[in-house]
Amino acid sequence: MISFIEEGQYFELTNNKITYLMKVEAGFLTHLYFGKKITFSKHLTYPKTVRSFSPYLKEEAWEISLNQLLLEYPTAGSGDFRTPALEVRFKDGSTVTNLQYEKYEILPEAIKSADLPKAFATEKEAAETLVIYLKDDLKQLQVKLYYTIFENNGVLVRFSEITNLSLEELQLEKALSLSLDFPKTDFECLQLHGSWANERQLTREKITSGKKVFSSLRGASSHQQSPFLALVTPATTEFSGNSYSFSFVYSGNHEEFVEQDAFKQLRVGMGIASQQFLWPLKAGESFQTPEVLVNYSDEGLNGMSQNFHHFLREHVISPKFKTQERPILVNNWEATYFNFNEEKILAIVEKAHELGLEMFVLDDGWFGKRDDDHTSLGDWYLDKHKLPNGLEKIASDLKEKGMGFGLWFEPEMISEKSDLYQKHPDWILQIPGRNKSLSRHQMVLDFSRREVWENIYEQMATILRQVPISYVKWDFNRHLTEVYSEGLAANEQGTVFHRYILGLYGFLQRLNEEFPELLIEGCSGGGGRFDCGMLYYTPQIWTSDNTDGVCRLFIQTGTSLVFPPNTMGSHISAVPNHQVGRSTSLEFRKNVAMAGVFGYELDLGKMSLEEQAEVKEQVAFYKAHRKLLQFGNFYRLKSPFSGNECAWLFVDEEKNTGLVFYFRILATPEDPVETLKIPYLTEDASYMVNGEVYSASELAEVGLFIPPLGGDFATVSFELKKI
Ligand code: DGJ
Repeated sequence: MISFIEEGQYFELTNNKITYLMKVEAGFLTHLYFGKKITFSKHLTYPKTVRSFSPYLKEEAWEISLNQLLLEYPTAGSGDFRTPALEVRFKDGSTVTNLQYEKYEILPEAIKSADLPKAFATEKEAAETLVIYLKDDLKQLQVKLYYTIFENNGVLVRFSEITNLSLEELQLEKALSLSLDFPKTDFECLQLHGSWANERQLTREKITSGKKVFSSLRGASSHQQSPFLALVTPATTEFSGNSYSFSFVYSGNHEEFVEQDAFKQLRVGMGIASQQFLWPLKAGESFQTPEVLVNYSDEGLNGMSQNFHHFLREHVISPKFKTQERPILVNNWEATYFNFNEEKILAIVEKAHELGLEMFVLDDGWFGKRDDDHTSLGDWYLDKHKLPNGLEKIASDLKEKGMGFGLWFEPEMISEKSDLYQKHPDWILQIPGRNKSLSRHQMVLDFSRREVWENIYEQMATILRQVPISYVKWDFNRHLTEVYSEGLAANEQGTVFHRYILGLYGFLQRLNEEFPELLIEGCSGGGGRFDCGMLYYTPQIWTSDNTDGVCRLFIQTGTSLVFPPNTMGSHISAVPNHQVGRSTSLEFRKNVAMAGVFGYELDLGKMSLEEQAEVKEQVAFYKAHRKLLQFGNFYRLKSPFSGNECAWLFVDEEKNTGLVFYFRILATPEDPVETLKIPYLTEDASYMVNGEVYSASELAEVGLFIPPLGGDFATVSFELKKI
């Protein structure tokens, strides 16, 4: 997969899908090509064109200017005026780094790390890693660039490691994980942005001259800006065309940018946000950046998503959960909020069991004195007023019924009104003497300090050791402010944001090691930390606090660009919907929720008997189709971001069965007959679709005519079976 071609000094990484080419040019590591697999003729070079106002490093090589080379890990100050990947401030105050190619090694594996989430190789799909060493001789600064390529995969992984080989301390002001230069292009840029209850909204815009930066400085990957970018050609649709896409394997501050220079070359960058980042590197120390998934597809946006979905399932999500079916759960949050007692909970459990559900999740409010959101975070022991017989009573009830027990935690947070805060007021992120900003009446524990997260770990693990809990919902309901750690020296304060995330990962790693059977669902006020870093530890994530069916069409479509449906927590809730007040039919809510990890978030006992009977059928239907819905391939057939319709297709790997959920958002007068084309089936086969036989080519080329659907928020589903 990886080779170095001595003559011409080329690096070629290739598998049966992609090729990535680099060349050492005048001592610099330059980029040549990334995209569809090609046969490399081993003499490609990017032309050197003499340009005005383009400084050159040496009189005898005046045609070589960093201003126009396509570079793999650019630095500023010697002629490249575009955005650098690395910024270092040396002891003497200078900031210019000149990275020259030194050597390389090829490792027969993916890189492992105890501190950061790292994509791993599997028996099914091996990996090789190219490590390229660059060095600034004057300052004795070494940069290692890592490129891991996997067999049969359109995704490769990149990150970097910076080592201070000098005897003097330096300051790392910026260290991106990825920088990638393209020759003149005509790309459009896709990005996912949003807000609480409105995550991962898709925007597509033309790239023009100059630079556009996307970022989160909230201490979390955030609802507001996902750590994702894609470049597509204007002709790229869901079904065809090229895409180059990037997803960050990290859950904290991030930045990504596109920058078109004066020669219409394009630079893309992704990494930890440089704002509020300052990492001192003492003599001999190294800093490793998180990974970026680098994805190429020529099969449209669905092809891009297929690559990400397969990669995440195979190489990022814990192998334990790769094929393990996820339970259908009921969560009491929207059913009771904080207002519950044992009787209410046991009634919900009873009803859930009667209707065939498999797990009950006790949400916020079971601990300390938590009757509202002003208190008790940090005190992870039972509220006996609400549950006099303990969690054990609920657990034994569930066990008797053969159901699983899930429990909510928000480990990173602390309430001012808590025993923990009384004991350890210095354990929060705060600047001595300065006002502490609150959000949801709570403060953030300083997870950059080991003793802090270890205290919470012990509290949490004590419960998990005593009570048979098979699922944890890990919540995170505010962003970071006054970021400062009393555990670190003044010159280390620029490391706190990242150290916080390392603490979070350390906690999650330990939790997974001690409780390997535990299924953790990540959550951050819904999908505020839905990223590849969290997925490494938490195989599913609550997609959004917004459970309205219509809003979810957008949120789940946007999320599906990168993440497979079996990572997206997706529940039916009551109407009128608690977030937006809209009422949609149970059928509509079911078709939306089934396109994720299915569950309920309401008081099942308050539903009418007819509705309960419908729920029973839904549950039985989901169980019968769960393998397809959780492990099948997922395609977007119609996107709500392009019109009034949305349609999602699930097809199993062998293309024997399929399920389509079709949605029409608003009714229009004299509705046109809509057509739904269904590609991605076995070409010469025929399929039974809701009782009628169609050839695969008919389904792909003519499509299904959607029957008249009355009213707003209409839906219909189609079951496909190969005959
Ligand atoms: C935010 C989550 O997204 C909700 O599902 C719920 O768990 C609340 N927090 C509880 O405080």
